[in-house]
Amino acid sequence: MQNEQVNFGFQKVSSEEKTGKVFDVFKSVASKYDIMNDFMSFGLHHIWKRIFVNKIEPKQNSKLLDLAAGSGDISYNYLKNSRTKNIKTEVVVSDINENMLEQSKPKFFDANFSKDIKFEIINAEEIPYPDNHFDFCTISFGIRNVTDIPKALSEIHRVLKPGGKFLCLEFSPVEEGVIKKIYDTYSFNVIPKVGKLITGDEASYQYLVESIRVFPKSDDFKNMLENAEFKNVRFEKLTFGVVAIHTGWKI
Ligand SMILES: C[S@@+](CC[C@H](N)C(=O)[O-])C[C@H]1O[C@@H](n2cnc3c(N)ncnc32)[C@H](O)[C@@H]1O
Repeated sequence: MQNEQVNFGFQKVSSEEKTGKVFDVFKSVASKYDIMNDFMSFGLHHIWKRIFVNKIEPKQNSKLLDLAAGSGDISYNYLKNSRTKNIKTEVVVSDINENMLEQSKPKFFDANFSKDIKFEIINAEEIPYPDNHFDFCTISFGIRNVTDIPKALSEIHRVLKPGGKFLCLEFSPVEEGVIKKIYDTYSFNVIPKVGKLITGDEASYQYLVESIRVFPKSDDFKNMLENAEFKNVRFEKLTFGVVAIHTGWKI
């Protein structure tokens, strides 16, 4: 993929440039990431994440890889579910950016989850684990930031065990109607300004809203999963199609 031009929001940049720019975006917003998420989604992201995590049926001694984990909500909710059911699970909480990963740590320490988790810096495009290792792999609001998405999907497929499940939660481009108008107005006019107010960084939030518009439609992303050899691929849209959950299995 070297030298290929890729989307960074509405701009076209080289793939190396995109990886660097995305890194800078999350380095810049890390300390205010959770508070901005609450504000931008009116708290809805907690509900989306709960619905997402409830699609994982934890098994005794299973292993979950949480990619692009950021401030750790998915791993945290999953561990909470497992503990409630008295099921012992292991979780790798990973992200390409140590600044984001740092934000997650207090949540796990406060809940006494430390012995069940490992924190690792991992690029989803090059997962440093052997084939057939994990029972579950999740990526939540992360895949659209990855430079080479087919490469990441193929890596995820490789590290999952046969019978393993992949789950992806991501914003989806809203395609038509009144909702699109309201959503576009809110995203382009409000979010970057509030981002500036809270984090002092308008450009990063401009990227975040643009990156949602250039991410593939749910049907196209389903095809990408099938091209990466996932089977029984399904998706479900939530909240007027603002977000979608894709799931697929390694057989
Ligand atoms: C919007 S945050 C999502 C955080 C969290 N999963 C959530 O749902 O709130 C996107 C994350 O993707 C990470 N990221 C971007 N490119 C990545 C890559 N190639 N591999 C792993 N993580 C990546 C960023 O560092 C950032 O923490």
